[in-house]
Amino acid sequence: MKELKVQPIKDGTVIDHIPPGNAFKVLKILGITESLPDSVISIAINVVGKRGKKDIVKIENRELKAEEVDKIALIAPNATINIIRNYEVVEKRRVEVPDEIVGIVKCPNPNCISNTREPIKTRFIVKSRQPLKIKCYYCEREPEDISSLIM
Ligand code: CTP
Repeated sequence: MKELKVQPIKDGTVIDHIPPGNAFKVLKILGITESLPDSVISIAINVVGKRGKKDIVKIENRELKAEEVDKIALIAPNATINIIRNYEVVEKRRVEVPDEIVGIVKCPNPNCISNTREPIKTRFIVKSRQPLKIKCYYCEREPEDISSLIM
């Protein structure tokens, strides 16, 4: 029998295949730090899918901004973003880690030019995707805990 852990939604976005335990980081990226009066959000943590354990976040009546999807890619490189309309999946996209990450991760080096000169956006070169390894274009620092540096 197929077990139903979290109900299907009518309209909105389902972020699926989040690494187990990372749903809270996805919520933080989406700016969901407390319950809001009109938003319905379902969170599944450590559910067993076809390919092992995963987290799922479902947000009703909301589509994600491109910048939010780019940030989610950094903590959930295999995530899919499913757009649901009238209970149907009308669009399924895999997130992508680009070759360069611009303006969404802060450099941990306080002396880096991207932290000291205002108009310069942070910029990292992606050295490896799984596991994710990035290097600051300006100061060559290779941050360890990337998820804590997402702006
Ligand atoms: N979903 C939902 N509400 C709907 C339709 C789908 O919450 N009305 C969820 C499903 O539970 C699933 C995700 O959206 O977590 C993607 O749905 P679907 O493409 O039908 O599932 P799979 O084929 O299992 O997706 P994948 O191949 O990406 O694993």
